[in-house]
Amino acid sequence: MMRTVSVKIALAAALALAPAALSAQSWSDQPVDPEKSQDAAAIAYDEGGRYYTEDDVPTYNLAEDGTVDWMTFSGFRRYHSECHVCHGPDGEGSTYAPKIKNSAVNMDYYDFYDVVVNGRQNGNSVMPHFGDNPNVMCYLDDIYVYLKARGMDAVPRGRPGKKEAKSDEIREMEDACMG
Ligand code: HEC
Repeated sequence: MMRTVSVKIALAAALALAPAALSAQSWSDQPVDPEKSQDAAAIAYDEGGRYYTEDDVPTYNLAEDGTVDWMTFSGFRRYHSECHVCHGPDGEGSTYAPKIKNSAVNMDYYDFYDVVVNGRQNGNSVMPHFGDNPNVMCYLDDIYVYLKARGMDAVPRGRPGKKEAKSDEIREMEDACMG
């Protein structure tokens, strides 16, 4: 009798803990298999120099000669000015912040946005919130797309060499966002 009760309590406690345990960096810890994640990155259409999946989620474009789309190139620069101090160069992770090149592939796009806008805390591990920082928010698609390309091993570490020109549409959106 006693045993049944304590097992039930232990189970309830385990279930209550499960969601928190799942959210703690599980996306970055999961390895990426580019074959299996093909659908999350495949281009369905493009618009004004931006590329999208069939779910209207931004993605990267890589030409055979290694030319990257503007967003990927821009994301490389923005990532290294805003995120790399904690998350390490090229999205590779560091001793105190996760390998977010994997997160950008494994995580839902909107969940990724949510963490950056609102931040997240897990004990002493703190992701700051960037929702009020235009230098991040106006370029979050760029950063996301760059990290996705890194996670899929589509672009090598370091600064991308050749890039597509910045389109008028991207320039206009940037000006409108930065105000
Ligand atoms: C001050 C250090 C710091 C900076 C700067 C920072 N992060 Fe983080 N970030 C963290 C930490 C620490 C975590 C893990 C939080 C946790 O344990 O829940 C994290 C978690 C994340 C996650 C969740 C990853 C996952 O797999 O669940 C995303 C996405 C993320 N950061 C994106 C970014 C982006 C994009 C930038 C740049 C705009 C950025 N971070 C800048 C420290 C930082």
